[in-house]
Amino acid sequence: MKFAVALSLVAVCCHAATVKHERRFPDDFIFGCATAAYQIEGAWNEDGKGENIWDYMTHNNPTVIVDQSNGDVAADSYHNVERDVEMMRELGLDAYRFSLSWSRILPTGFANEVNQAGINYYNNLINEMLKYNIQPLVTLYHWDLPQRLQELGGFANPLIADWFEDYARVVFENFGDRVKLWITFNEPREICYEGYGSNTKAPILNATGVGTYLCAKHLVIAHAKAYYLYNNEFKASQGGECGITISVNWFGPLTDSEEDEFAAELRRQAEWGLYAEPIFSAEGGFPKELAARVAEKSAQQGYPWSRMPEFTEEEKNFVRGASDFFGVNHYTGLLISATEHMQQHPVPSLLDDIGVGSYVPPEWLQSASPWLTLSPNSIYNALTHLARKYNNPVFYITENGWSNTPSTGLQDDDRISYYRASFESMLNTLEAGVNLKGYMTWSLMDNFEWLLGYTELFGLYEVDFNSPERTRTPRKSAFVYKEMLRTRTIDYSYEPQSLVMTIDEGH
Ligand SMILES: *[C@@H]1O[C@H](CO)[C@@H](O)[C@H](O)[C@H]1NC(C)=O
Repeated sequence: MKFAVALSLVAVCCHAATVKHERRFPDDFIFGCATAAYQIEGAWNEDGKGENIWDYMTHNNPTVIVDQSNGDVAADSYHNVERDVEMMRELGLDAYRFSLSWSRILPTGFANEVNQAGINYYNNLINEMLKYNIQPLVTLYHWDLPQRLQELGGFANPLIADWFEDYARVVFENFGDRVKLWITFNEPREICYEGYGSNTKAPILNATGVGTYLCAKHLVIAHAKAYYLYNNEFKASQGGECGITISVNWFGPLTDSEEDEFAAELRRQAEWGLYAEPIFSAEGGFPKELAARVAEKSAQQGYPWSRMPEFTEEEKNFVRGASDFFGVNHYTGLLISATEHMQQHPVPSLLDDIGVGSYVPPEWLQSASPWLTLSPNSIYNALTHLARKYNNPVFYITENGWSNTPSTGLQDDDRISYYRASFESMLNTLEAGVNLKGYMTWSLMDNFEWLLGYTELFGLYEVDFNSPERTRTPRKSAFVYKEMLRTRTIDYSYEPQSLVMTIDEGH
C-alpha cells in the first residue's frame, strides 16, 4: 500500500465510542517501556565506572537540581536486574528500551580501556530479558557523556564523531549478537539546545545562539558514523537495525493564516528539523528556512559568519539516509503564532532566531510538569506530518509519558487518561497508513528527572526512594497498560479489581 494514497483516503474522526473499542493494534506491534542509565542505575562509582557529566554537575554544582538530589543511587537498577525484569513480565512487555552508560563501559571515554564489570552488568540484564522473550531496544547515548570528553569540548568538538564511533564498536562487539534494535542518540534537541544552547541540561553551557548549531552538526555526523559502522561491519552477521530517536512534539499553527503556518514550520525546524532534516530528507543538510533566518540574523548582529555551520557536500551525502528507522519521543503539543503570545529570549539564541509565540489552551489536561499537557491527537498530527515529509520511514515511538507529583501515590488516573488518548491517536496514525511499528512508555519506573530531581515522577511503578531497597510498587496505570497490551485494544470500562500484580502465563 502506497503511503500517499492511504493518507489522502482516510479521514480519521468521529467513530462512535462503541466502534472505537474494536479498533485493534496488529499482533506484531511492539509494546514496551523505556528508561535511561543515569536516571535509574545508581552505582555511580561502583566497579570501575568513570565519571560522567551528570555525576560531575550534580556533585560540583548541586543547587542546579531543584531538590539538590542526584543519580548516585537513583532507583538502584544496577542492583535490581531481576526485579526490573520481573516488572516487565508482570506488564507483559514485548520489549524494554534502556540505555548504556558510556563511562560504565569506557571509564575514560576512550576505547583504550574497557570495563568488564560494566559489560557484565548489561550482559546480565540482556540475558535475563531474553529468558522471557523480552526484546532489548538499546540506546547508546542518553545524555551521560564521560566527563573527560566534555573537558575536551564534548559535542562542540568535531572529534566527538570518532570517539562515539569507537564506543559504538565496543558496544556492537559485545552485545550485538543479542540486541537487534539500536538507537544511537536519544533526543539531540535536549543534548544540543538544552545542554549547549541554554542551561537546562548538563553541561549547562548556555552558549546561546551558537552551541545548539555546532552540537547539531557534530551530533548528526557522529550518528552517521555509528550507523555506517554497524551497517558495514556488523549488520550482515548480526542482522539488526540502527536508528536515532528525536523528540518530536507537535507544533501546529494557532490560526489557519499563512503567517502562523510559517511560524509553526520555523518552530518545527528549530525543534526537530535541525536533526531530522540532515538524516531523513532527500536533499540533506540543515532546514532551509531556518538556515536562511540564522544567516540573516547573524549578519545583522555583526558576526562574520552564520552562527549555523554548513555541511560540505560530502558531509551532506554521508549523513542523509543514515538510519533504518525514525525513533520518536512524543509528549505534547503547542500552538504557534507569528504575532501573539511572544516571549523574551536571550540575543542571540535559537528561540530569538525564529521569533515566534507559543500558546497552550487552558482546557488541555495539565501534568505535574509545566511543559506537559494532553494535546489532542498530537501523535497523529506529528507522525502523519513526518511521514509525508520524509517518505514514510519506519517509526517507533520510543517514549511517551505523563508526570505526577510524589503526593499522587498509586491512584494516577490522569496518567491513565493520557495513555488511553495516546492509544487512540496511535490507532488513528496506523489507519492513516503510517509505518509505525512500536511504542514504549516513559517510564517503567519513577526515576531521576534531571534538573527536577525526584519532584516529577513518570513511572508505571512507583519507587520508594526512601527505602534502601528502592521498593517498586505498581500504580493503577500499570494495570491499565497491562490490560491494553493483553487485548491490543482500549477498554474504557476496565478497572483493576485490586492493585495486586501477578505474572500471567507465558510471561
Ligand atoms: C545565558 O546566556 C544569556 C545570554 O545569551 C544570558 O542572558 C543569561 O542570563 C544566561 N543565563 C545564565 C543562567 O547564565
